[in-house]
Amino acid sequence: MLFSQSGVTAAIERSQLNATLLAIDEINAAGGVNGRPIEPVMHDPASNPKRYAELGEALIDRDGVRVIFGCYMSSTRKALLPVVEARNGLLFYSTLYEGFEYSPRCIYSGAAPNQNALPLLKYLLEAHGNRFLLVGSNYVFPYESNRVMSDLVVSAKGRVLNEIYIPLEPGEKDFERFVREVRKHEPDVIFSTVVGAGTAQLYQAYREAGFDPARMPIASLTTSEAEIAQMEPGDAEGHITSAPFFESLTTSSARSFVSAFKLKYGHSAPVAASAEAAYFQVHLFARALASADTDAPEALLDALKGSEYDAPQGRVKIEPENNHTYLWPKIGRVGADGAFEIVWAPPVGIKPDPYFLSPSIDDWSSLAFESRRA
Ligand code: ACM
Repeated sequence: MLFSQSGVTAAIERSQLNATLLAIDEINAAGGVNGRPIEPVMHDPASNPKRYAELGEALIDRDGVRVIFGCYMSSTRKALLPVVEARNGLLFYSTLYEGFEYSPRCIYSGAAPNQNALPLLKYLLEAHGNRFLLVGSNYVFPYESNRVMSDLVVSAKGRVLNEIYIPLEPGEKDFERFVREVRKHEPDVIFSTVVGAGTAQLYQAYREAGFDPARMPIASLTTSEAEIAQMEPGDAEGHITSAPFFESLTTSSARSFVSAFKLKYGHSAPVAASAEAAYFQVHLFARALASADTDAPEALLDALKGSEYDAPQGRVKIEPENNHTYLWPKIGRVGADGAFEIVWAPPVGIKPDPYFLSPSIDDWSSLAFESRRA
C-alpha cells in the first residue's frame, strides 16, 4: 500500500488508506482468502511522485509484493506505473482522474471524466449557466481535466473565460489572484481541480471575498468529505461536487459501509468517494485472488476483467476493454451541516469511457450499465 500520510494530499489518502485496511479486516475476519490472511505492507510516499516510484521498487524488489494499492495525484500514478509495468506487477488505483490512459497493469476504480466531469457539466448547464472560470492546482490532472472540460463546455456552446493555476502548496498571494479573476469575469461557475490542503484556502478565500455560491458555485471533482473536514464550518456550504459516492448516501449498502468505517476510525473520520473505491477494489481483488488461487498478476487480471461487486455506491463492474470501472455518477451540494445533499443522480450506472469514444453529452444510453442499483 502506497497512500501518503504526510504532504499535501495526506487527508484524502488517509481516507483511502483507512478504507483499504477496513476491507482487509473484513476479509481476514471472514477467514482470509482460501484460508490465508491478507497482510498489508505499507509505506508513506509523502505526496511526492519520486517517493512513489522508489517505494514501489522497494515493495516489489525487497518486500516481495506483487499487487500495490495506492496513489491519489495522477503525478504519483504516472511515476509509479512504469515501475509496476517493468516488474510485471499490478496497481489498483482508486482515484478519479483525467482519463486518456490505459495500462494493462492497472485497475482503475475511480471515475473517468465521462463519469464525473460530463454529468457535472450537464447539471451545471441546467442549473447555473455556461460561462466557466477554471482553477486548478499546478500539475497534470488539472491541466488535462481542464482540457477535457474546455472541450465539453465549447461543444455545449458555452465559454471558458480563463484558466488559472495555483501551486500545490499555495500562499495567500495565489488566492488574491483567484479572487481578482472571479471579480473580473463574474462567471456562472468556477470549475475547480484544486487538490489537497490548498482546497480549504480556496473556499475560504471565496467566502471572505463575499461571493455567493447560489449564484456562482465552485464545482469540483476533488472537493470531498476529506477536504471539507479541513475547512472552517460554512466555507463549503452551497458548493458542488460530482462523485460516485458521498458519505451521506442513504442506501443500506452505503450506510453499512459508512457505519463500519466510523466504528473503526471514529465519527469525524471522513469517508470520501476515493475511499469507497479503495474499499471495493480490495474486495474485487480478494475475489479474484480466491478464484485464481495465486497472486500472479496475469491470473488476477484474467479473474478481474468483467468481475462485479455490490459496492457501497451500487453494483460496479470492471470493463475488460480498458480496466476501468462502471460507476454511478452523482452530484452533491454541501449543506449547512457540511454534508453533501444529492441534487442529481442519473438512474443508471455509467460505462467507463476514458478516451471519450462516445462523446455525446446527451446520449447516456450507449454507456448505461444494465445491472441494478444497490
Ligand atoms: C488526481 O490527480 N487524479 C486527482
